[in-house]
Amino acid sequence: MWKKILGLGTPKREKDLVALYDRVPQEKRPRHIAVIMDGNGRWAEGKGLIRTAGHRAGVGTLLDIVQVCVDFGIEVLTVYAFSTENWKRPRPEVDFLMSLFSEVLEKEIQRMERDHVRLRFLGREDGMSEKLLGEMRAAEARLAGNDGLQFNIAANYGGQDEILRAARTLAVRAQAGEIAPEDIDEAMFAGALDTAGQPPVDLVIRTSGDLRLSNFLLWQSAYAEFWFTETNWPDFTPEEFVGALIDFAHRRRRFGGLNPSEEK
Ligand code: FPP
Repeated sequence: MWKKILGLGTPKREKDLVALYDRVPQEKRPRHIAVIMDGNGRWAEGKGLIRTAGHRAGVGTLLDIVQVCVDFGIEVLTVYAFSTENWKRPRPEVDFLMSLFSEVLEKEIQRMERDHVRLRFLGREDGMSEKLLGEMRAAEARLAGNDGLQFNIAANYGGQDEILRAARTLAVRAQAGEIAPEDIDEAMFAGALDTAGQPPVDLVIRTSGDLRLSNFLLWQSAYAEFWFTETNWPDFTPEEFVGALIDFAHRRRRFGGLNPSEEK
């Protein structure tokens, strides 16, 4: 499956990446990885470029990371592309991001199809243009039958907003008599979220130095491990990504319990 890693440079780079990934035992690999792709603006400003150049460069990094996830057989990758708070940014930057989503969808759909990627957009619809929404839903439908990487793009997404929408959905169902309030448990609630049917987040990666969750996948990250780097998103490499996976493999996850050695 390694041979599928194309476009990541020299064969030596590819071989080194494989060697790095080989160090991660199967049972220690994360099923669901969530990424906060931060630092596009800082990357651009550091180079004397306009901020939007950073977002465009960030797409290149994203495509590399999706490719690595496909080739490594990762189950779910969720990326934070646009938060419910990002509407506060200057209008030209918002417009640029919206047209970038549209452009990337159109350009990359064939590759995602080839790689058996399934696509789901997380987040609310209102505020997004009808045109972009149509493209998002069409792309999701076209890739719906695939069985490879589940790729989630959080766009117009906020964790608190998602939890509220799920609560309202269940309240409406309870009011209609379809469910009883006491039937609502963690599993039913998780099933009303945008990530319904997907495993919880194992690993959250955030680039560019800030140490916070920023309203991303609040419910799903309840027991996630966190991994931070100073690297700005456009400079983040597949090697650093694999470094995060190796680090994750060494974490002792207790999920509120004890390690077997501590159970005395
Ligand atoms: C955060 O950097 C990044 C974003 C708000 C946008 C991320 C979007 C992409 C990488 C494009 C993704 C494209 C698709 C199709 C999903 P920032 O602008 O907050 O950086 P700063 O903190 O340095 O200002």
